[in-house]
Amino acid sequence: MTAVGIDAVEIWTGKLSLDLPGTFAPQKGEDPEKYTKGLGLNASSFPDSYEDIVTMAANAAYRLMERKGLTPDDIGRIDVATESAFDNSKPVSTYVAGCLEQVYDGDFHHANKGERKFACIAGTQSLDDAYNWIKAGRNRGRAALVIATDTALYARGDAGEATQGAGAVAMLITEEPSLVELSTEQGYGSADETDFLKPNQQFPSVDGKRSVQVYLARMREALEDFESVAGASHPDQYAYIPFHTPFPGMVRKAGLLAYRHMIRDTAIEDDLADEIGRQPREEAFDDADAYHEAVREYMDALKGTETYQEWYAETIDPTLTISREVGNWYTGSVHVARISALKHGYENGLDLAGSKLLVGSYGSGAQAEGHAETVCEGWHEELEALDIDARLESRYDLTWEDYEEIHDVHNHDLDVDIDARTTPEDEFVFDGWGRMGERKYRFAE
Ligand code: HMG
Repeated sequence: MTAVGIDAVEIWTGKLSLDLPGTFAPQKGEDPEKYTKGLGLNASSFPDSYEDIVTMAANAAYRLMERKGLTPDDIGRIDVATESAFDNSKPVSTYVAGCLEQVYDGDFHHANKGERKFACIAGTQSLDDAYNWIKAGRNRGRAALVIATDTALYARGDAGEATQGAGAVAMLITEEPSLVELSTEQGYGSADETDFLKPNQQFPSVDGKRSVQVYLARMREALEDFESVAGASHPDQYAYIPFHTPFPGMVRKAGLLAYRHMIRDTAIEDDLADEIGRQPREEAFDDADAYHEAVREYMDALKGTETYQEWYAETIDPTLTISREVGNWYTGSVHVARISALKHGYENGLDLAGSKLLVGSYGSGAQAEGHAETVCEGWHEELEALDIDARLESRYDLTWEDYEEIHDVHNHDLDVDIDARTTPEDEFVFDGWGRMGERKYRFAE
């Protein structure tokens, strides 16, 4: 059986950065530790005035193609996952192909293009589509380009404003991949939910507190469905568990939930029993409220154990390093978490080839997916080629006044023109409007 998976990844961060504890918290009259300790965020990425979902996607894809020595003929499919699209008909992938055709001799006329929407989970769904396309033998030896790109902005004053972000992740899906091999081990938790939505509006309507509960409920279902395919999971089975990361504090909750689930009826639960008791079993309770209260108490105790903290430090915390500096990238977030984890392995000299990852994707509305991946032999070289830290460090640090202007520039209902804070170099930039209301782009040398 031919292995199919992610061969290579490139990340493009919005070129501006907002310091959350230093700049945002004081303006909101809030304790900076709400950001650093509570939400787990230091900064958010923002697009400069000449950046948008197309430029970020095209720039990530261009870097990926250059690094892998690809031409348009090598690509049979371009899928863009986004929930920040500005057109209800023409997909972002056509704009991205148009950008790339400015710098390559060939064209992408033969490539199937589309746009996937299901809140933040659409990036993972596009990966699944690419995997299925290749596995079905319809790719004729060609690779798929999957790009997750979003400008995650909330209305000014919304509680979600603290969790904004902007960036793109481009992934090359091939046979015999270098980075991770995907598998048929996957499961879903999906239900009609009204927690976060954008009914024909740019900024989301959010029930923030409920969205956290829905995330956890669907993730638990997805884990159960995953286990019906892959068998019971054990915490030691996975080198890392990258989750969708709207903010690291959310993943703190998801990690604890997954751990409790995975240690049930294992030696770990037995070993912890003297210290914190055994997990409450639903059948032992007449009343649902009493059961849920007992679970909450058990989770609180579990969180404080050394056993859990060590597992969290090794398996979950490394997935959050990049997210802490960039905020929520919606469709790209879980893919940033995967890279963050592998980067940790690379920097700490770990031998990850053959190790498994359990990837927990999520999109509001709502659906979670758990799937297993295996790290491939070539992962080290792929990680070596990335320059994420340099890109994050080179972002322009916004003042509060800058932030207000930039938020307005990217507000579709306003017509604001400001000087860019950075200078584009060897990248695609927004270049104004065409006669049919289309957005135009050019390559800035
Ligand atoms: P909020 O009311 O601003 O914050 O809303 P809070 O008061 O709940 O505080 C946040 C955390 O900081 C809490 O931690 C506080 O205790 C802690 P928790 O109790 O939950 O563990 N805290 C402090 N810690 C230390 N020192 C302090 C301090 N103060 C407070 N001084 C909320 C937070 C996330 C609700 C808001 O930002 C929001 O609405 N965000 C947008 C929605 C969102 O991100 N939801 C996440 C799940 S849904 C999802 O992931 C999908 C999504 O990506 C969209 C998609 O799929 O397309 C959003």
